Amino acid sequence: MTRQLFVTTALPYANGPFHVGHIMEYIQADIWVRFQRMRGHEVKFVCADDTHGAPIMIAAEKAGQTPQAFVAAIAAGRKAYLEGFHIAFDHWHSTDAPENHELAQSIYLALREQGLIAERTIEQFFDPAKGMFLPDRFIKGECPKCGAKDQYGDNCEACGAVYSPTELKNPYSALSGATPVLKTSSHFFFRLSDARCVEFLKDWTQTPGRLQPEVLNKISEWFGTDEAGAPKLADWDISRDAPYFGIRIPGTQDKYFYVWLDAPIGYLAALKGLMGPAFDAYVADPAVEQVHFIGKDIVTFHTLFWPATLHFSGRKTPNHIFVHGFITVSGEKMSKSRGTGISPLRYLELGLNAQWLRYYIAAKLNARVEDIDFNPEDFVARVNADLVGKYVNIASRAAGFLAKRFGGALSADLGVEGRMLLDALRAHAGTVAQLYEEREFGKALREVMALADRVNEYVDQHKPWEIARQPGQDAALHDVCSVCIEAFRLLTIYLKPVLPALAAEVEAFLQVGPMQWADAQRALGRHTIAPYRHLMQRAEAAQVDKLFEPPAPAEPPKALPGGEDIAAEIGIADFAKVDLRIARIVDAALVEGSDKLLRLTLDAGEGRLRNVFSGIRSAYAPEDLKGRLTVLVANLAPRKMKFGVSEGMVLAASHADEKAHPGIFLLDPAPGAQPGMRVR
Ligand code: MSP
Ligand code: ZN
Repeated sequence: MTRQLFVTTALPYANGPFHVGHIMEYIQADIWVRFQRMRGHEVKFVCADDTHGAPIMIAAEKAGQTPQAFVAAIAAGRKAYLEGFHIAFDHWHSTDAPENHELAQSIYLALREQGLIAERTIEQFFDPAKGMFLPDRFIKGECPKCGAKDQYGDNCEACGAVYSPTELKNPYSALSGATPVLKTSSHFFFRLSDARCVEFLKDWTQTPGRLQPEVLNKISEWFGTDEAGAPKLADWDISRDAPYFGIRIPGTQDKYFYVWLDAPIGYLAALKGLMGPAFDAYVADPAVEQVHFIGKDIVTFHTLFWPATLHFSGRKTPNHIFVHGFITVSGEKMSKSRGTGISPLRYLELGLNAQWLRYYIAAKLNARVEDIDFNPEDFVARVNADLVGKYVNIASRAAGFLAKRFGGALSADLGVEGRMLLDALRAHAGTVAQLYEEREFGKALREVMALADRVNEYVDQHKPWEIARQPGQDAALHDVCSVCIEAFRLLTIYLKPVLPALAAEVEAFLQVGPMQWADAQRALGRHTIAPYRHLMQRAEAAQVDKLFEPPAPAEPPKALPGGEDIAAEIGIADFAKVDLRIARIVDAALVEGSDKLLRLTLDAGEGRLRNVFSGIRSAYAPEDLKGRLTVLVANLAPRKMKFGVSEGMVLAASHADEKAHPGIFLLDPAPGAQPGMRVR
């Protein structure tokens, strides 16, 4: 029976390029998908950028871009990685696409209809300078426990204490430096504590085969009650106040869905983006198996919120959530913010074979939620021993003789021992398939390498290089080499989900069409193969080490990227003459009669405001500037202009040739700086 599979990976935040953790997840899912396709099943494999939320909105603002332009630039960079690592998504979408707006709004309305949306007033920190409510991670202050400075709103990195942002001492906004104030606002909640939800989720999560045992174990805590006897599964705040980059909540003017409400709906939007009008029938079809590959950090979203969202809006729920652990690099955790680890793009640029990484990661993966480690020495050793030493070697040892002595034609006889060996290899197709199906990739590959060992033993026993020198042994040589090629074909089928590009080259070499899993049960028989070309290089340690070096500048740039040389040297006394101050842009306005200037009203902590004209209109809208801090040249002689007197200058970066390299970037002091502070 042909299975219909709808498969996704987690939607990556569109605030940066992929790191090796993303690539690991895509490799895992891609191998499973390719395997299913080789079995003749039909798979729709989609992903999308997760575009919404405060952090992305703020990152875009910092980059001086609209959030839409910011996420579009990130999306444009995805292709190089996906193609480079042979990740065969059928479609890449965006959670900001119209499909997602429509689906999120209609799902919300259906939940409302069910009486599962509640409206409540809550009190939150508000940044008066920015005019926005602050997410926890943008509130900093002193730890209430140990007094450490500059700690985040939810936990202390110095002593490990966990608290709520309102407990911080001397809190400040990480965006503006302003002291946040408590402000109330009405929010929408998904009533997960409703008995219907709790009952449904208990049942859903416990359906055998749905979740991995350790995942079920972990989330079962949520079905209990806390010390006070209240159910732990609390209602879920799904709304955020403007300004927010997200999807507008129907029936409101200034409220948006919290990013985690619309992000998983993005799975459906991506599928709709792929399928168009056929989407509705497909996604509702009980025969379609819906499978989400995710990492261990986002389990509650996928095993509680997401199925409840789907079920109570009258939709089908996922069949499987497949959770993987994290990849570390040489035992070190990668941090989301610091983005350490190895750069997947650099890996490709260095000319390292993407399939080495696919194989290495696959060899370490199992069906459990375990972390895996990328270790450079281990990587080189594993790839060379298995892929080159055991597998590719089989073809290279036999192909030369076949070409030179038999015109590339295979023998159809193969001899008793050869046939026995090949039968044994074919007999393992089921076991290997089952291991791929269960995501026990490490075990599957160990199985395949054990088969390769048997083929190599056969070669060592029959020594084609010796028979080749003995007169009258042509038939024996022909059989042995033909057995090797047939064995190589079988091993290639078993490895094809992991090594798709290599398998394509093997198909060309063997002069066969795209190989399916079932092709392992037939024999090539009388058949002619193409001349052998080397299939895979050995990995070199020196090359892999380069992954860990900072990339060297290709060539010393002729002109600096800014388009002008460094100005003549000055002494510190010259520099000290320039009085630079932090200033807050209290107001910004267009200047009538000028398409270059903005009129800025600045507070440099002097007890008076200054008027400054600045040629930044092409890069900034006045409303984007209000409340922002920047740097002012405070002792510049006032200048009388057509539009009024300018009392100083704000600092901004630009290219010397602004026409050819447009863009003006206002300087932005780090959080905590206060108006009036001197910059030196
Ligand atoms: N945007 C959310 C997911 C929304 S799904 C509707 C998100 N994005 S993420 O970019 O932070 O992570 C994307 C995926 O990468 C997640 O499944 C996450 O677990 C995975 N990984 C992030 N770091 C990882 C490792 N170090 N190792 C393996 N996977 C990791 O979360
Ligand atoms: Zn502390």
